[in-house]
Amino acid sequence: MKKIYFTLMAVMGISALFSTANAQDHSAEGAQIYTDFCEACHQPGGEGFEDVYPALKDNVFVLGDQEELIYLMLEGRAGMPTFIADLEVEELTTIINYIRNSWGNAGGEVPHDQVVEAYDFIAEEDDGFGPGN
Ligand code: HEC
Repeated sequence: MKKIYFTLMAVMGISALFSTANAQDHSAEGAQIYTDFCEACHQPGGEGFEDVYPALKDNVFVLGDQEELIYLMLEGRAGMPTFIADLEVEELTTIINYIRNSWGNAGGEVPHDQVVEAYDFIAEEDDGFGPGN
Protein backbone atom coordinates (compact mmCIF):
# COMPACT_ATOMS: atom_id res chain seq x y z
CA MET A 1 0.00 0.00 0.00
CA LYS A 2 2.78 2.35 1.00
CA LYS A 3 4.62 1.57 -2.23
CA ILE A 4 1.57 2.41 -4.33
CA TYR A 5 1.18 5.66 -2.45
CA PHE A 6 4.78 6.67 -3.15
CA THR A 7 4.50 5.72 -6.82
CA LEU A 8 1.37 7.81 -7.12
CA MET A 9 3.05 10.78 -5.48
CA ALA A 10 6.01 10.45 -7.82
CA VAL A 11 3.78 10.36 -10.91
CA MET A 12 1.80 13.37 -9.71
CA GLY A 13 5.02 15.24 -8.96
CA ILE A 14 6.40 14.58 -12.41
CA SER A 15 3.21 15.61 -14.20
CA ALA A 16 3.01 18.79 -12.10
CA LEU A 17 6.54 19.58 -13.20
CA PHE A 18 5.64 19.08 -16.84
CA SER A 19 2.53 21.24 -16.74
CA THR A 20 4.50 24.13 -15.21
CA ALA A 21 7.14 23.75 -17.89
CA ASN A 22 4.47 23.90 -20.61
CA ALA A 23 2.87 27.01 -19.17
CA GLN A 24 6.25 28.73 -19.14
CA ASP A 25 6.98 27.75 -22.72
CA HIS A 26 3.64 29.16 -23.81
CA SER A 27 4.37 32.59 -22.38
CA ALA A 28 8.01 32.50 -23.50
CA GLU A 29 6.78 31.91 -27.05
CA GLY A 30 4.25 34.71 -26.65
CA ALA A 31 6.96 37.07 -25.44
CA GLN A 32 9.09 36.20 -28.46
CA ILE A 33 6.21 36.86 -30.90
CA TYR A 34 5.48 40.11 -29.09
CA THR A 35 9.10 41.24 -29.47
CA ASP A 36 9.23 40.28 -33.14
CA PHE A 37 5.83 41.54 -34.33
CA CYS A 38 4.23 43.98 -31.87
CA GLU A 39 6.77 45.71 -29.69
CA ALA A 40 8.00 48.21 -32.29
CA CYS A 41 4.60 49.90 -32.16
CA HIS A 42 2.98 48.89 -28.87
CA GLN A 43 6.28 49.22 -26.96
CA PRO A 44 7.88 47.06 -24.27
CA GLY A 45 5.52 46.29 -21.42
CA GLY A 46 2.50 46.95 -23.67
CA GLU A 47 2.76 50.61 -22.72
CA GLY A 48 1.81 52.00 -26.14
CA PHE A 49 3.14 55.21 -27.61
CA GLU A 50 1.45 58.55 -27.03
CA ASP A 51 -1.75 58.86 -29.07
CA VAL A 52 -0.36 56.83 -31.96
CA TYR A 53 -0.15 53.24 -30.71
CA PRO A 54 -2.64 52.22 -28.04
CA ALA A 55 -1.37 50.62 -24.82
CA LEU A 56 -2.32 46.94 -24.62
CA LYS A 57 -1.83 46.93 -20.89
CA ASP A 58 -5.06 47.65 -18.99
CA ASN A 59 -6.92 47.88 -22.31
CA VAL A 60 -10.68 47.16 -22.34
CA PHE A 61 -10.57 45.99 -25.95
CA VAL A 62 -7.80 43.46 -25.25
CA LEU A 63 -9.64 42.15 -22.20
CA GLY A 64 -13.09 42.40 -23.78
CA ASP A 65 -14.95 40.47 -26.48
CA GLN A 66 -12.78 37.56 -27.62
CA GLU A 67 -14.28 37.37 -31.11
CA GLU A 68 -13.54 41.05 -31.82
CA LEU A 69 -9.96 40.66 -30.66
CA ILE A 70 -9.47 37.59 -32.88
CA TYR A 71 -10.88 39.44 -35.92
CA LEU A 72 -8.71 42.48 -35.25
CA MET A 73 -5.62 40.27 -35.30
CA LEU A 74 -6.76 38.63 -38.55
CA GLU A 75 -8.00 41.68 -40.42
CA GLY A 76 -6.18 44.65 -38.91
CA ARG A 77 -7.74 48.08 -38.48
CA ALA A 78 -6.49 51.54 -39.53
CA GLY A 79 -2.75 51.64 -38.66
CA MET A 80 -2.86 48.16 -37.13
CA PRO A 81 -1.60 45.61 -39.67
CA THR A 82 -3.20 42.22 -40.30
CA PHE A 83 -1.20 39.23 -39.10
CA ILE A 84 -2.99 36.54 -41.09
CA ALA A 85 -0.05 36.12 -43.48
CA ASP A 86 2.79 36.49 -40.96
CA LEU A 87 1.66 34.25 -38.12
CA GLU A 88 0.51 30.63 -38.04
CA VAL A 89 -2.88 30.09 -36.45
CA GLU A 90 -1.18 28.51 -33.38
CA GLU A 91 0.97 31.63 -33.02
CA LEU A 92 -2.14 33.82 -33.24
CA THR A 93 -3.70 31.94 -30.33
CA THR A 94 -0.43 32.30 -28.40
CA ILE A 95 -0.05 36.05 -28.96
CA ILE A 96 -3.75 36.72 -28.21
CA ASN A 97 -3.47 34.89 -24.90
CA TYR A 98 -0.12 36.52 -24.20
CA ILE A 99 -1.46 40.08 -24.47
CA ARG A 100 -4.56 39.12 -22.45
CA ASN A 101 -2.41 37.75 -19.63
CA SER A 102 0.69 39.96 -19.43
CA TRP A 103 1.64 43.20 -17.67
CA GLY A 104 -1.07 42.74 -15.04
CA ASN A 105 -3.78 41.91 -17.61
CA ALA A 106 -5.90 38.99 -16.44
CA GLY A 107 -8.15 37.95 -19.34
CA GLY A 108 -9.56 34.44 -19.70
CA GLU A 109 -7.94 31.98 -22.06
CA VAL A 110 -9.19 32.29 -25.67
CA PRO A 111 -9.71 28.72 -26.93
CA HIS A 112 -7.55 27.71 -29.90
CA ASP A 113 -10.64 26.29 -31.70
CA GLN A 114 -12.26 29.71 -31.72
CA VAL A 115 -9.19 31.24 -33.41
CA VAL A 116 -9.04 28.38 -35.95
CA GLU A 117 -12.71 28.88 -36.81
CA ALA A 118 -12.26 32.61 -37.51
CA TYR A 119 -9.02 31.95 -39.37
CA ASP A 120 -10.66 29.37 -41.67
CA PHE A 121 -13.65 31.65 -42.21
CA ILE A 122 -11.44 34.53 -43.35
CA ALA A 123 -9.13 32.31 -45.42
CA GLU A 124 -12.18 30.99 -47.31
CA GLU A 125 -13.51 34.47 -47.85
CA ASP A 126 -10.16 35.59 -49.26
CA ASP A 127 -10.66 36.24 -52.96
CA GLY A 128 -7.07 37.14 -53.74
CA PHE A 129 -7.45 40.79 -52.75
CA GLY A 130 -6.42 40.07 -49.16
CA PRO A 131 -8.50 39.55 -46.06
CA GLY A 132 -11.53 41.76 -45.56
CA ASN A 133 -11.98 42.54 -49.25
C1 HEC B 1 2.92 49.08 -37.38
C2 HEC B 1 2.51 49.29 -36.03
C3 HEC B 1 1.78 48.18 -35.30
C4 HEC B 1 2.20 46.88 -35.11
C5 HEC B 1 3.46 46.23 -35.59
C6 HEC B 1 1.17 46.26 -34.30
N1 HEC B 1 0.16 47.14 -34.03
FE1 HEC B 1 -1.50 46.80 -32.92
N2 HEC B 1 -2.19 48.65 -33.37
C7 HEC B 1 -1.52 49.61 -34.10
C8 HEC B 1 -2.36 50.79 -34.22
C9 HEC B 1 -2.01 52.08 -34.95
C10 HEC B 1 -3.56 50.51 -33.56
C11 HEC B 1 -4.79 51.42 -33.45
C12 HEC B 1 -5.70 51.11 -34.60
C13 HEC B 1 -6.89 52.07 -34.67
O1 HEC B 1 -6.67 53.27 -34.60
O2 HEC B 1 -8.01 51.58 -34.79
C14 HEC B 1 -3.41 49.17 -33.02
C15 HEC B 1 -4.37 48.53 -32.27
C16 HEC B 1 -4.21 47.29 -31.66
C17 HEC B 1 -5.18 46.69 -30.77
C18 HEC B 1 -6.54 47.28 -30.40
C19 HEC B 1 -6.40 48.23 -29.27
C20 HEC B 1 -7.64 49.03 -29.01
O3 HEC B 1 -7.69 49.66 -27.96
O4 HEC B 1 -8.55 49.07 -29.86
C21 HEC B 1 -4.65 45.49 -30.36
C22 HEC B 1 -5.28 44.48 -29.43
C23 HEC B 1 -3.36 45.35 -31.00
N3 HEC B 1 -3.12 46.46 -31.78
C24 HEC B 1 -2.53 44.28 -30.84
C25 HEC B 1 -1.35 44.08 -31.56
C26 HEC B 1 -0.54 42.88 -31.49
C27 HEC B 1 -0.83 41.69 -30.60
C28 HEC B 1 0.50 43.05 -32.35
C29 HEC B 1 1.58 42.08 -32.69
C30 HEC B 1 1.19 40.78 -33.19
C31 HEC B 1 0.35 44.38 -32.93
N4 HEC B 1 -0.78 44.96 -32.43
C32 HEC B 1 1.24 44.95 -33.84
C33 HEC B 1 -0.25 49.48 -34.62
C34 HEC B 1 0.49 48.32 -34.64
